[in-house]
Amino acid sequence: MSRTLFVTTALPYANGSFHIGHIMEYIQADIWVRSMRMAGHTVHFVGADDTHGAPIMLKAESEGITPQALVARYGAERPQYLNGFHIKFDHWHSTDSPENVALSQDIYRKLRAADLIETRSIEQFYDPVKGMFLADRYIKGECPKCHAKDQYGDSCEVCGAVYAPTELIEPYSALTKAKPILKSSEHFFFKLSDPRCVEFLQSWTTGENLQGNKRLQSEVLAKTREWLGHGKEGDEVNLGDWDISRDAPYFGIEIPDAPGKYFYVWLDAPVGYLASLKSYCDKIGLDFDALIDPNSTTEQVHFIGKDIVYFHALFWPATLKFSGRKTPDQLNVHGFITVSGEKMSKSRGTGISPLRYLELGMNAEWLRYYIAAKLNSKVEDIDFNAEDFIARVNSDLVGKYINIASRAANFISKYFDGELKFSGDHAALSAGWTQAAERVRADIEAREFGRAIRDIMAQADLINQAFDAAQPWMVAKGLQDTDTEKRALLQDICSNALGGFKALSVMLAPILPELAHRVAIDLFGLDREFVWSDAGQIPTRINGFKHLMQRVEPNMLEALFEPPAAPIAAAVKANEPALIPGGEPLAETISIDDFVKVDLRVARIVNCEHVEGSTKLLRLTLDVGEGRHRNVFSGIKAAYQPEQLIGRMTVMVANLAPRKMKFGVSEGMVLAASHADEKVDGGIYLLDPSTGAQPGMRIH
Ligand code: 2FM
Ligand code: ZN
Repeated sequence: MSRTLFVTTALPYANGSFHIGHIMEYIQADIWVRSMRMAGHTVHFVGADDTHGAPIMLKAESEGITPQALVARYGAERPQYLNGFHIKFDHWHSTDSPENVALSQDIYRKLRAADLIETRSIEQFYDPVKGMFLADRYIKGECPKCHAKDQYGDSCEVCGAVYAPTELIEPYSALTKAKPILKSSEHFFFKLSDPRCVEFLQSWTTGENLQGNKRLQSEVLAKTREWLGHGKEGDEVNLGDWDISRDAPYFGIEIPDAPGKYFYVWLDAPVGYLASLKSYCDKIGLDFDALIDPNSTTEQVHFIGKDIVYFHALFWPATLKFSGRKTPDQLNVHGFITVSGEKMSKSRGTGISPLRYLELGMNAEWLRYYIAAKLNSKVEDIDFNAEDFIARVNSDLVGKYINIASRAANFISKYFDGELKFSGDHAALSAGWTQAAERVRADIEAREFGRAIRDIMAQADLINQAFDAAQPWMVAKGLQDTDTEKRALLQDICSNALGGFKALSVMLAPILPELAHRVAIDLFGLDREFVWSDAGQIPTRINGFKHLMQRVEPNMLEALFEPPAAPIAAAVKANEPALIPGGEPLAETISIDDFVKVDLRVARIVNCEHVEGSTKLLRLTLDVGEGRHRNVFSGIKAAYQPEQLIGRMTVMVANLAPRKMKFGVSEGMVLAASHADEKVDGGIYLLDPSTGAQPGMRIH
């Protein structure tokens, strides 16, 4: 049965770049979504920036810009990360949007009409200099327990004590250092302690979703029991009402009929899930209201981290329920990612930056594979560890899986013109692959990604073992066209390996979408991407084999962990996107073998002249120590007069195939530096070897 799903990931605050924790969550959700789509289900996968709240307001203020400008700046860099890691949201929106204002206000009105909103006067610290109420994190002072200085308003980092800000000794405002005063103001509360809410939440948290599955993982359910009891004997309900308002100045959504009052950011943040879906529906002509109708069969699934369970397992379902909307079907909660065992900070992330990963030319699919290999359906932390990463990518992914194709494909191309032939029982073969793929698919749906990968690698081991045992290289030794039996054997051995490789590629497709795309289309000649049912289809031929994936170079990991070079370090510190050197991202990493293919030589410019009819080119006559001269056209006319160059040494690519141009044949290329953006620097700078280098010397 084909299902329709509405899937989200937690909305990132729009005052910082993505860190590895965000990317991990998006990769987890993206793998899950891709797998559901491969099974034929319809998935609407949306995200958005979480834009409101005091930290964003204050950060913008400190930079002298509007919060909108700050949010726009971070919004603009999202695609670079998402595309870079092949994370394919259908839509990315913002909580600072008309859809979110309308939905949040409508939800509030419905809650008010249901008599679930009440106002109370509360006393809070107020910064008289800044003219604003202070959230706990903006109040500091001496710990009432251990007397450590400069501790935050809610807990002490030294002794771990938890307290109210009013208990701090000599409190001060972290914003202005002023002594805060206690001031009262009217706040709006969502009455979560109302018996209707408690009863609903007890049933929602313990109940089943549209698929007949539990909505919450067992660890999450246990956590909610601490707050809700769930009606068991001796259980205590520990659920306070929720303060949903903040006083101006605040960057947020105005509360209807309450001038100067705004929704607390956590009220409108999850509404952003709906706002993004609405904006997407409007864009592509889908019926939004039908998708989120309380009776809709669309499954609503939220991927989140363990730190925000409270908001998603209590406030959010209650908000939806009592505003007459559909409630979530499943919360998929994951743990944190640590790097080499070190915890990350919520705002700064870990020591490794996803952007740096990409800029170093590291393959995004290595990280997708690694993260998948580590994830399961529990709320457990996972660790990114360099040696482990290298081992899993090089030994497992490349060494086991990719290796199958690299070993078998050449025999099939060389001896059988790409044709595959299987001597065994086709039905059994197909059934075996189908069953294996179904196991993996079910594991992915259950978010047991690590188990799925262990299964796939065990299958890869079997394929490699069978291939080794059959020794196709011996069969191929001295093979003649007339060796019919031997030929059939060789074709069978390699076909089985490649058939298995294709089935494994289907199973890995949600995790390695780009690679699977190339395997499906380039290698097996499909006209579309893999779907789950392709696993059982016996392939009949392959096209020529092109190399599929490089191994990780250990020095890449060193570079990833090294403190970044100065501009990148400064950018990371300022929470800015890293600088792109010379205006263009580094090209994909190549091996030393690739590099040595390019033969660079020192050349003397023995003559240089204008090219009649060309505004860009100069004609260079070069001596590369070959006892003859070469003719090379170069697009450097804008930067040099011919007489400036005659007699100068430079560097050329000496083994570039000669190119026929309008003005003659060019026998190589001289090297020059330039910025990608002419507006930044329009110069062209010809390379100079150091004094002493002679024509013909190779550059290593
Ligand atoms: O914890 C966070 O990073 C929040 N910005 C997550 C919000 S999730 C949803 F509610 F919007
Ligand atoms: Zn203390």
